[in-house]
Amino acid sequence: MDKKLDRRHFLTAGAALAGSLLLPRAFAAGGGEKQRIAMIGTGMRGQVLLKELLRRDDVDVVALCDIDPVMLGRALKQVEKEGKAKPATFGEDRDPQAYRRLLDGGKAGKLDGVIIATPWEWHAEMSIAAMQAKVAVGCEVVAGVTLQDHWDVLNTQLKTGTPYMLLENVCYRRDVMAVLQMVRAGLFGELVHLQGGYQHDLRAVKFNNGDPAKPYGSGLEYGAKGFSEARWRTEHSVQRNGELYPSHGIGPCAMYTNINRGNRFTRINAFASKARGLHDYIVKQPGGAQHPSAKTKFKLGDIVTTTLACENGETILLQHDTSLPRPYSLGFRVQGTDGLWMDINRSIHIEGKSKPHQWEDFQAYQEKYDHPLWRKYASRAEGAGHGGMDFFVIHDFVEALKAKAPMPIDIYDAVAWSAITPLSEMSIAQNFQTLDFPDFTNGLWKTRKPIFAL
Ligand SMILES: NC(=O)c1ccc[n+]([C@@H]2O[C@H](COP(=O)([O-])OP(=O)(O)OC[C@H]3O[C@@H](n4cnc5c(N)ncnc54)[C@H](O)[C@@H]3O)[C@@H](O)[C@H]2O)c1
Repeated sequence: MDKKLDRRHFLTAGAALAGSLLLPRAFAAGGGEKQRIAMIGTGMRGQVLLKELLRRDDVDVVALCDIDPVMLGRALKQVEKEGKAKPATFGEDRDPQAYRRLLDGGKAGKLDGVIIATPWEWHAEMSIAAMQAKVAVGCEVVAGVTLQDHWDVLNTQLKTGTPYMLLENVCYRRDVMAVLQMVRAGLFGELVHLQGGYQHDLRAVKFNNGDPAKPYGSGLEYGAKGFSEARWRTEHSVQRNGELYPSHGIGPCAMYTNINRGNRFTRINAFASKARGLHDYIVKQPGGAQHPSAKTKFKLGDIVTTTLACENGETILLQHDTSLPRPYSLGFRVQGTDGLWMDINRSIHIEGKSKPHQWEDFQAYQEKYDHPLWRKYASRAEGAGHGGMDFFVIHDFVEALKAKAPMPIDIYDAVAWSAITPLSEMSIAQNFQTLDFPDFTNGLWKTRKPIFAL
């Protein structure tokens, strides 16, 4: 962990609160009122989420904060293009704590919610500050960096009762939601084993030449000389070895297996391969062998394989694979006593329906089990990021706020999914030890009922 992460975490740990389960307070905005939403972090992801907010007539984007003038300027242009009122802005002075002024209710006025789309090392600190200010949080993946971060975010949520949602969009992918319907209909029989992961060649994301016009693959800089994710994400590959991005894979698997709602993770271990991909990428670029980045020692194993055991007997396998050449795939597999689905070959096999030992094309099942949310909103989701799922994740956050309903991906989901990262790091650091998985719900998993996409 570098000094910056350490210092930030020290601040966060200082704000740690004793956990006590209080009833959520009633939130100020009424059902019919427009939601006053702010954003902290208007980078590449923030701008995608901002587009979704600006398309809605039940949301006013009232404040934006970013410490990079290029990113803040791009976001302001988006607002202007949509013909919406200019939001209050924060961060022009590049003060990393400027977000606190956004939350204090002064210049930005009263806020109903805030979207946090900053680098990972800021998520816990910013979410905690927002929840303490009674501003509902929609936080990009992940919830925190260290295991203590996760306890701090959870305890703050329980103490303040402020709504918190992890903005895990893959749970809303059309095929993922159709499979959720199939699981709930019992098509796979009793679930036994699931797989997922984050298998995405990020080499051209982790390095660029710092030019805001060319964020992908334009050079070999990272850190202060890089732009967007090269500025911060790459450092995590230098300093950390673990399943750094679990929620796209575990989110859907956790929904399928009712984690925190009748089931829970009990044990975890992780294995990491050697780290070759990022160095290999650098030295293969023109002039790469002479570039200072060629001297960097990357700690992150190219393939990190994490296994989770669940209370109800399922196993879940996750793979993090971001440093080698490969086409994108989240590698889902959902397998039960009656058959399985695998997204890589868009195929399914159901005993008694499919020919023995043969795959069937998924399309007919997709049509039959298409989730009602997709049937209803497909045309509104068209054009939204990541094949439409970004519409749904913002939609669910705003609708839950308006209805004062529980968040569909709530604090327990957030910390259980995201704590896989520090736990996998611990497992690898302890020679691939199998560790107990903390019960963040303190026993509530036994009685909580599923609510996602019902
Ligand atoms: N769910 C998804 O599909 C998805 C996709 C991409 C990124 N993400 C997540 O979104 C988050 C942001 O990623 P990104 O790709 O937009 O990165 P980015 O680097 O493009 O944007 C991050 C922004 O945060 C700003 N920032 C940093 N520190 C700040 C501070 N103290 N105060 C205010 N602003 C600050 C930066 O200036 C930058 O503009 C990450 O958590 C990432 O994992 C999620």
